Amino acid sequence: MSDLLTRAADFIRLPNSPNAKPDVLPGGEGLRCTVTGKRYPLRGGILHLLDAPPNLTKAQQSLDSPIMAWFYDRFRGFLTKRVGVPPFREEVEMTQAALGIAPGDAVLDLACGHGNFTVEWSKLAGPNGLVIGLDISETMLRRAVTRVNKAGLKNVLLVRGDALNLPFRRGSLMKLNCSGGFHQMPDLPRAIAELARVAGPGASLTTATFARISNDPQEARKRKIEARYNNTLRFIPLDELQRLLETAGFTDCTHHIPGGWFGYVSAQRT
Ligand SMILES: C[S@@+](CC[C@H](N)C(=O)[O-])C[C@H]1O[C@@H](n2cnc3c(N)ncnc32)[C@H](O)[C@@H]1O
Repeated sequence: MSDLLTRAADFIRLPNSPNAKPDVLPGGEGLRCTVTGKRYPLRGGILHLLDAPPNLTKAQQSLDSPIMAWFYDRFRGFLTKRVGVPPFREEVEMTQAALGIAPGDAVLDLACGHGNFTVEWSKLAGPNGLVIGLDISETMLRRAVTRVNKAGLKNVLLVRGDALNLPFRRGSLMKLNCSGGFHQMPDLPRAIAELARVAGPGASLTTATFARISNDPQEARKRKIEARYNNTLRFIPLDELQRLLETAGFTDCTHHIPGGWFGYVSAQRT
């Protein structure tokens, strides 16, 4: 783990010390802030970069429960098929067509959850690449640790952090994916601004999210689901998402919504 942390340290900006590159603790036990001395442990395969326990929203809490995390992990394919999402292999190919991960790349898999996409990006980035899977839920990250270890992958760092305060340096990442995360973000403009901050010029961004379109035939059902989660889960209007991305500094936005529920968006950082 020491090697991996040493490579990742180039990308990391610790929460309370924006400009100082962290030290790697002996034996790869975590990172240490060179300014405050604060330690950020690597425990059970997860690097903990949250400064305080997060206040999870209702939607975030649902996947943080062990039963729901297990259920999502086990039945994602079945659940997503019901709302017209293409099979996982197709999602990977479609996303990779826009992301273009090549051997040696450093990749951020934001809201990585149980690590399904993280593992795929890891294989594409190869042994000289680095894939950072970041999620706010320790329960989901534990599932990602199991998935990554089972696949024998050595180029993945799993981080507990918050999309609203990304623990990465400005302009440090060129391939960024966020699958299934945007619709749960309590402050989407801020999450997008954070992605724009950490993306380097020309970086590729792909995202997939629960979405709505104008005159949406599923509007009533979507509203019902949002109400069930006290509006902490949101079907994001795709034109609004495009506007947010452009305002934050992304360009060449394309989007499509194959089954009417889940929208796929790609963009480039200017
Ligand atoms: C539906 S899962 C997606 C998992 C996987 N990426 C996929 O596409 O199947 C959504 C994930 O977003 C994470 N998430 C929600 N808000 C977040 C935030 N502010 N920062 C980091 N992760 C967040 C949740 O913890 C959850 O694991």
